[in-house]
Amino acid sequence: MSNGLSGDVKDIGLSDQGVSRIQWAAREMRVLKLIRDRFVNEKPLEGVDIAACLHVTTETANLAITLKDGGANVVLCASNPLSTQDDVAAALVNEYGIATYAINGEDNETYYKHIHSALDNKPHFTMDDGADLVSVLHKERTDLLGKVIGGTEETTTGVIRLRSMAQENKLMYPIIAINDADTKHLFDNRYGTGQSTLDGITRATNVLWSGKSVVVCGYGWCGRGIALRAKGMGSHVIVTEVDSVRALEAVMDGYQVMPVGEASNVGDIFITATGDVNVIDKETLDNAKDGSIFANSGHFNSEINIPYLESISSGKRLIRSSVEEYSIKDGRKLYLLGEGRLINLAAAEGHPSSVMDMSFANQALCIEYLVGNAKELGKTVHSVPNDIDETVARIKLHSLGIGIDSLTEEQELYLRSWEEGT
Ligand code: ADE
Repeated sequence: MSNGLSGDVKDIGLSDQGVSRIQWAAREMRVLKLIRDRFVNEKPLEGVDIAACLHVTTETANLAITLKDGGANVVLCASNPLSTQDDVAAALVNEYGIATYAINGEDNETYYKHIHSALDNKPHFTMDDGADLVSVLHKERTDLLGKVIGGTEETTTGVIRLRSMAQENKLMYPIIAINDADTKHLFDNRYGTGQSTLDGITRATNVLWSGKSVVVCGYGWCGRGIALRAKGMGSHVIVTEVDSVRALEAVMDGYQVMPVGEASNVGDIFITATGDVNVIDKETLDNAKDGSIFANSGHFNSEINIPYLESISSGKRLIRSSVEEYSIKDGRKLYLLGEGRLINLAAAEGHPSSVMDMSFANQALCIEYLVGNAKELGKTVHSVPNDIDETVARIKLHSLGIGIDSLTEEQELYLRSWEEGT
């Protein structure tokens, strides 16, 4: 940027709007606020350089500000080309002095250029969402690895990639899997994805959910949340799975379960949340009803076979924002939302602040933990320490004004004893 600010954002003039929206999100991020207040006083991250690759949203801004208030030098880049909120990126640079490289709609080349810009910060710690930053660091910027002490990873897909790296002994420093914390996946993945996915599809299409047949591909925590919310809106929900236990769980949760091929001519709306490739493949696209809508809520735009969709189409047009109408050669029209990218961030604002509060409280506390402990950890993927997970839950409940019981001495004793029976 030529005006002395560092970063690459769409329009620095959007800063004021970004600041108000960041403040609005902060109202619901009370756990992070408590951490921030402590960080301001204790400065546990003094002298620490962080390269963060996250969705640039109002919630992420509150995390970045917290880390900065803790003394860290943070540089941020986008973890998806379509998820950046341009006003937030402008505010981070202009108001909060956090170098941010993120432009909504950036092409692939710019996306990776921005990752390199974040790495130019020569980080002690990486903070990633999907493992693209870690991947570039290990493949193209190995000169920087000597300084890196540790990292965190936000999401299921990223954790899977990192575990593969660790298994092949390719991971060069310890990374904490934030996604594994109970206070992350039970809430962010389930209630966050559940709400924000329906929000994204609704904002893109304005469809009525009531009475629709909705096919949810994948019954992990995200799929569970999406199915639950679609059911709540009055949809008939069909779940597809490859895992027998999860499929059985979906059956007993009251959903119809069938192979995706069978669901292909039943569904009105198809939503993928598996983390795998070509879940919506040729068979489904060939058999889908005229007017079917396809959306993805997984991290990468690989779950719907878009090249095949293109190949069976005679043309496409953007019929409304985030909705592409494909004219299939056999006369059907199929609709792809948000270019097959994660729809909750491409067409809406991602998860609500109140769940991101817990995910990002884990992030902040884990970076603090790594500052003191990374050197003792092996070069693999680690769980969030239990006491951090419990602390986040306890503070969240407190912030919601909810008290709970604790065990009496008699109950503790009873639980420890094995002699008492029938
Ligand atoms: N991932 C999903 N929703 C998000 C949000 N609101 N901010 C950052 N990352 C997210």
